[in-house]
Amino acid sequence: MISKIFSWRPWRPGAIIRFFETINFTPGFLENIPGKPFDPMIVLGIDTSCDDTSAAVVADGRSVLSNVVHSQVEVHHVHGGVVPELASREHVRNIMPVVAESLSRARVGMDDLDGVAVTVGPGLVGALLVGLYYVKGLAWARQIPLAPVNHLEGHILSIFLEERAPSFPFVALTVSGGHTSIYHVEDYGRYTPMGQTLDDAAGEAFDKVAKISGLGYPGGVAIERMALRGRGDRIRFPRAYMGRDSLDFSFSGLKTSVALYMKRWRERGAGGDGVTLADVAASFQESVVDVLVQKTVTAAQRMGVKSVVMAGGVACNRRLRERLSQAAGEQAMEVYYPRPGYCTDNGAMIAVAGYHSLLRGERGDMALDVRSRFPIKALMADQGAGSAPEGD
Ligand code: KG4
Ligand code: ZN
Repeated sequence: MISKIFSWRPWRPGAIIRFFETINFTPGFLENIPGKPFDPMIVLGIDTSCDDTSAAVVADGRSVLSNVVHSQVEVHHVHGGVVPELASREHVRNIMPVVAESLSRARVGMDDLDGVAVTVGPGLVGALLVGLYYVKGLAWARQIPLAPVNHLEGHILSIFLEERAPSFPFVALTVSGGHTSIYHVEDYGRYTPMGQTLDDAAGEAFDKVAKISGLGYPGGVAIERMALRGRGDRIRFPRAYMGRDSLDFSFSGLKTSVALYMKRWRERGAGGDGVTLADVAASFQESVVDVLVQKTVTAAQRMGVKSVVMAGGVACNRRLRERLSQAAGEQAMEVYYPRPGYCTDNGAMIAVAGYHSLLRGERGDMALDVRSRFPIKALMADQGAGSAPEGD
């Protein structure tokens, strides 16, 4: 990395901007002077796990120099959900322009990269392969280290892209379209699964309920918007608490219950009984939020931690943020959320996770493959941590 001082080329146009963006203006900044401003470790992070092609440049696992996300919503919208084959094709089309844009916005060149991180799972196999093989070519051609990243670890660590981040240990709820899990996080790379969904993920439930209700895809935002005009206590949809001590989730029963309700609601004349679609959306949202909040706070209490992190696409939901902050506040806990752009899939969170794995000396090689299922416990085993309990 010392060579970075020479490759930094501060006389290049834009280098000054990059210099200032990279400086960490925190109270500890002065202590960092010998290394940080002149020798940041620059990592390119790439995520193609689902329907977004994303590339980001992050310095020292904290300062985002760029974060470019190419959304495929337009492509999948007409199909009411992500079509894997179309997603792979879109990634092939977009990966090079997205990387070029992220380097350009960060005002760095390929020569400035100290490493490249890529999501290897969990996700859609064809989609993941596009990112992985692009990165293999890049790492080989540039002779830079490659960090294979677990997507869920990326979501957990996305909080470190924010100025306001917790110290270890903390409890993290990752709640997205593919996952709903709670982890006890002791350090970078040290995650103990505490609970997970046994069927649908919370985001999947939002997407399916939106589809049933004719609100379109993607569903989370549509339901949230619709719910603003409704009453969350209007319909009592089921809450699956899965037993007194369980921290696992189940959302498929709720989804079925809303589907049945919607069928009868339409038969009754869609609103003729005074219940609006907004009431259905708000009541559904309230059921999901109740369970997520209760289990997350219980997990934090059980581990005796005072910091709670919520990440993943569903963590954008304002009602969920409000309710979790309130419930955690009552227990004197602090809640930390990444901004919405870092909650939904992004390359920056992958760069953060990759940066820490490179610091630990982990390296991917050319034999790397993708993993459609990649539970955190497998990640821990890969790192030699061994005996993490069962769970995602
Ligand atoms: O993290 P993400 O971008 O991708 C996955 O890893 O799955 O999460 C996408 C999910 C989708 O299911 C989407 O409907 C949901 O996050 N989502 C929301 C909101 N924004 C996105 N769910 C509820 N409320 C929102 N505001
Ligand atoms: Zn995700």
